[in-house]
Amino acid sequence: MERTFLAIKPDGVQRGLVGEIIGRFEAKGFKLVGMKLMTASRELAEQHYGVHKERPFFAGLVDFITSGPIVAMVWEGDGVVASARKMIGATNPLNSEPGTIRGDLAVNVGRNIIHGSDAVETAQQEISLWFKEEELSAWTPSLTPWIV
Ligand code: TYD
Repeated sequence: MERTFLAIKPDGVQRGLVGEIIGRFEAKGFKLVGMKLMTASRELAEQHYGVHKERPFFAGLVDFITSGPIVAMVWEGDGVVASARKMIGATNPLNSEPGTIRGDLAVNVGRNIIHGSDAVETAQQEISLWFKEEELSAWTPSLTPWIV
């Protein structure tokens, strides 16, 4: 089953958007299989954003992403990588369509509240960078109703 790595960035956590963002992926029908609130080290952030290390925004991006706790998550489902990117919206929130997370909730490219892996292969790399295997839970919904 396909998996993706999503992270609510420090601005999303500090603005109180954790529940709103997680709710969108639950409501869509994807399955949460890993989650932790953590402050990333510079080393981890630099590895995660390594592809951008020559870009002018790299230092500021690493400063920002390590500035406070983030919610690192792994979500599972058919086509979850591309679907989550669509739900997140364009990198610059001013270009993100209304209805997307960034389009509805953000205005600044440097404070765009959520990260999502851009391809299946990148997702696999990012999941193994951020999570140990034992931190991920493969679960199936119970067929027994919980509320009678
Ligand atoms: P990128 O991987 O291009 O975007 P996305 O997060 O949509 O996959 O860029 C990574 C992050 O770098 C992006 O979320 C915000 C930051 N960034 C800037 O601050 N300025 C920029 O001009 C770009 C392209 C990205």
